Amino acid sequence: MVQTMPVNLESLTNLAKRRGFVYPSQELYGGLGAVYDFGPLGTMLKNNIRAAFIKRFVQEREDVVLVDTAVLTRQDVLRASGHEQSFSDPLVECTVCHQRFRADEKVPEAKDHEHKLAEAKQFNLMFATHVGATKEAGSLAYLRPETAQGMFVNFKQVLDTTRIKVPFGIAQVGKSFRNEITTGEFLFRVREFEIAELEYFVKPGTQDKVFTYWIEQWEQFFIDYGIKKENLKRHVHPKETLSHYSKGTTDLLFQFPMGLKELAGVANRGDYDLAQHEKATGTTLQFFDEQEKKAYRPFVIEPTFGLERAFLAFLTEAYKEYPYGRGSDAAVGIPTSPSGERRNEEQEIVLHLDPRLAPYKVAVFPLVKKEKLPEIAQKLVQELRKQWFVQYDESGSIGRRYRRADEIGTPWCITVDFDTQKDEAVTIRDRDTMKQERVKLNKVSDWIAKKLER
Ligand code: GAP
Repeated sequence: MVQTMPVNLESLTNLAKRRGFVYPSQELYGGLGAVYDFGPLGTMLKNNIRAAFIKRFVQEREDVVLVDTAVLTRQDVLRASGHEQSFSDPLVECTVCHQRFRADEKVPEAKDHEHKLAEAKQFNLMFATHVGATKEAGSLAYLRPETAQGMFVNFKQVLDTTRIKVPFGIAQVGKSFRNEITTGEFLFRVREFEIAELEYFVKPGTQDKVFTYWIEQWEQFFIDYGIKKENLKRHVHPKETLSHYSKGTTDLLFQFPMGLKELAGVANRGDYDLAQHEKATGTTLQFFDEQEKKAYRPFVIEPTFGLERAFLAFLTEAYKEYPYGRGSDAAVGIPTSPSGERRNEEQEIVLHLDPRLAPYKVAVFPLVKKEKLPEIAQKLVQELRKQWFVQYDESGSIGRRYRRADEIGTPWCITVDFDTQKDEAVTIRDRDTMKQERVKLNKVSDWIAKKLER
């Protein structure tokens, strides 16, 4: 059996950069701290995570609707929500080097001096900006630090324009911004990121049961898409570490390369947000229960996760390094290229991503660049591209092409060979088992669809 080595953050960062998953943002100018850009493959993977969330929690359900609300948020919205006052972390500054650190985390030692830390103060994490042509008072706005407030301020609109009834959820996936004090663990804590979350409105009194239900749903989502159960752990927040809006939060921790850390969470926000916006605007934010003939302000259970953290978690779980030779040409029974590409010290990287998350579902290779094989392969590619992202690759040995595809998590590689013209079939090789199957050309798309069906 092949040995795999545990993954470290550096290997993930390197692969992500080398293969075009993630680049430090604006690197041409020296980068912007803890802000990343997603390259071609990363964008596809992130889109697939987003799509998986929407499919499971909106499309496949009767009781959840999707919104997409503004990033720019009025000051009074975030004052009412308590963020202006309380969305902060304790900060300490070294009076020698003026570096700033989280006061509630261990301060790293400096190389050339001993930090002299000033008294801790609260540092608000929101990015402020101005809307309109002048900086006059009244035009102050924030880049939202969470998507949640967009759902709360649209609560009435959603009730009035749909036929949805409590219990129901409003879901959203969107950019959020936090001027984090400490960063530096790749995608784990960044300043611009996407949150996928739901505000699930329930009748007061039912919140505890619904809270448990959503923790289970959240765990199952990650497990179904490839996270091993043993790498997830629940963490119940003690009162002291709860966010200002929360009556109770359970985090879902994941075994990241740098340790067991928060991947996702479920919070019981009670009626805090709706009550605050009611108070600030004078508009009643309640649900009229036709059966009970009375109105009430629902309680909110909020399951949430960051797309970047999910991205990092799926990569961590999927990434495996094997000693050279795992997917060698000899091992798959295809002639080896004479070009001497192999180096014994080389590692082979495979991303064992769930096929539904993989950037490309399929790679198609003509065995050689002659005898009409490229034409047949291209024709197949064109057909499959109507449904999926498909890569065409005709350069290098087949073994080398397998390795390139394995490294970016492509679940199936299709080879068009000399027999294809005779038997109208191709060989499909599975990334994880490396087993090969002969499939008729006109059955390939059904074969893939069936594999992706779940
Ligand atoms: N509406 C609730 C809320 O925003 P949160 O725990 O502050 O809750 C939600 O953030 C999720 O967003 C977290 O579980 C985490 O996955 C992700 N997240 C938070 N801060 C982040 C950051 N600076 N960089 C990347 N992801 C972050």
